[in-house]
Amino acid sequence: MNYDLKGAKIIVVGGAGYIGSHVCKTIAGHGGVPVTFDNLGSGHEHAVQWGPLEVVDLRDKSQTLTACEKHKDAISVVHLASSIEVGIGEKAPAEFYENNVVGALNLLDGMRAAKLNNLIFSSTCATYGETDQMPLLESQIQNPFSTYGKTKLAIEHMIQSYHKAYGLNYVTLRYFNASGADESGLIGEEHDPETHLIPIALAAAAGLRGKMKIFGTDYDTPDGTCIRDYIHVNDIADAHICALEKFEAGLTAAEVNIGTGKGVSNLEILKMIETVTGLPVPYDDAPRRDGDLTRLYADPQRAKDVLEFTARHSGLKNIIQTAWHFHSAKWNVN
Ligand code: UFG
Repeated sequence: MNYDLKGAKIIVVGGAGYIGSHVCKTIAGHGGVPVTFDNLGSGHEHAVQWGPLEVVDLRDKSQTLTACEKHKDAISVVHLASSIEVGIGEKAPAEFYENNVVGALNLLDGMRAAKLNNLIFSSTCATYGETDQMPLLESQIQNPFSTYGKTKLAIEHMIQSYHKAYGLNYVTLRYFNASGADESGLIGEEHDPETHLIPIALAAAAGLRGKMKIFGTDYDTPDGTCIRDYIHVNDIADAHICALEKFEAGLTAAEVNIGTGKGVSNLEILKMIETVTGLPVPYDDAPRRDGDLTRLYADPQRAKDVLEFTARHSGLKNIIQTAWHFHSAKWNVN
């Protein structure tokens, strides 16, 4: 993909986070200038390396309006900032709705006031909810059961209304499991607390956390563990460039899955980690984790048709190698 952004400015809300920092690096690699809006609540200042940082909290409406007005010359906004930890959403939904839904509403209003008319929104496969229909098609009924998925779906609906009433152009990207790290080792997954399978399993292999738990080994899958669609974070970043290019070509509205179409089980992840690191991953079987679906993987066809997007970095070995490269340097292990 050779799309040249020719110095254009793009606002990246949540640009200090895991996916956001990779989006910023990719935008810069295509000749654009990413302007990060982030409250640094879970993002990291050290991850903002490819453009300026505006410390903005979307929950503060006047701050958000001012920041949008200041950067009204941007060609697009990418909105990735949100609370993501599914378990916390169940215990503290008020915080989730305020951070995700109220924050997005303030951003949409800031965009409207500043006449920022293009939005790429980070949604999730968690908006679909329980279904036996695999792979997941975008036309699948969305019936999320987690608060996290509900907040993301509420934002999808808000964006559709703003499109209809105010002419907002949008591409909603429904990510599957973001994973891996940039090949440079400069940025990677740094959640606190970490709840995701790959970084936890890498820490267990590195001897940093004792035995990990595999949540559920009695699922109706070939090895009894859950199946997910792992997509490299730089593929997710590339999908944003495709969306920017399509805005220029006249795309006005789309909801698109960003996954590989390939399901991988939890034990297959552990096996690949052992292959890549040469270290065993110590684990215990544990009861199922509340809210986990048995299997989730995308139908990636619409992304090909609408965005001309295909995953290029998402071989499982590359995902684990790049994640290990980032984490082992951070942890000072090899
Ligand atoms: N898992 C373990 N042990 C762990 C951590 C995870 O067995 O210590 C398992 C989970 O139970 C699940 C699989 O590994 O079966 C993947 O779990 P992750 O937490 O890594 O990812 P999820 O599929 O739960 O979550 C991802 C995104 C969320 C999004 C969700 C949609 O990270 O933001 O997909 O289903 F909401």
